[in-house]
Amino acid sequence: EALERAPSQHLGPEYKSPDERPQATVSKSVTQANVHILPQTPQLIALLTMIRDKNTNRGDFIFYSNRINRLLVEEALNHLPVLPHTITTPLGRTYSGVKFEGKICGVSIMRAGEAMEQALRECCRSVRIGKILIQRDEETSKPRLFYDKLPEDISERWVLLLDPMLATGGSALMAVDVLRSKGVPEEHILFLNLIASPEGAANFAQKYPKLRIVTAFVDQGLDEKNYIVPGLGDFGDRFYTL
Ligand code: URA
Repeated sequence: EALERAPSQHLGPEYKSPDERPQATVSKSVTQANVHILPQTPQLIALLTMIRDKNTNRGDFIFYSNRINRLLVEEALNHLPVLPHTITTPLGRTYSGVKFEGKICGVSIMRAGEAMEQALRECCRSVRIGKILIQRDEETSKPRLFYDKLPEDISERWVLLLDPMLATGGSALMAVDVLRSKGVPEEHILFLNLIASPEGAANFAQKYPKLRIVTAFVDQGLDEKNYIVPGLGDFGDRFYTL
């Protein structure tokens, strides 16, 4: 099976001529309408280059992945509805703006998803955050739910589901099943990840076409161990231990 060539783009400011602007590999595009890929800006590509580099140390990995997570959270929040809101400025003038409508919460898929909680807290003060632990069952090698702790009113909230790497989507799909069993409508779930595989994105789009995926990058594919390639390796290991 021939691998589709990864798209390449000139990056850098417009005042530089194209031959002065380096070519870099950018995200694959996808056909699924519910997959939202962040704009492939020079900053985003530089941040991804940092965290993909095997020589990047743990401190830098944490710092730069957090910057991308902030971009993901900000983009996800743009998918939530707003209401008209007119205010008065200190000059006595009115300004017609908007305000958020509804309640949100985060749900991190342990353990790697917990690495995205900081960015969510930085963007949404005192946000409630639930957790789901799913691990591969030793005997069946299928994902199994081990633990969940979720806000009791989660069915009335928009849910930002957090997991940095969308590989096959097996555990994330199970997490969505858990959320739906608690009454969360599919269209109120936003699944945030740093890097997605085309296979994972397609699995989600097929099973949950109304759920939105917000990702920074759709990578080339999966290797024989279901690691994303070129990827960044094991996210949890790089964030928590190495
Ligand atoms: N989880 C990771 O941490 N990395 C991958 O490449 C796939 C899943």
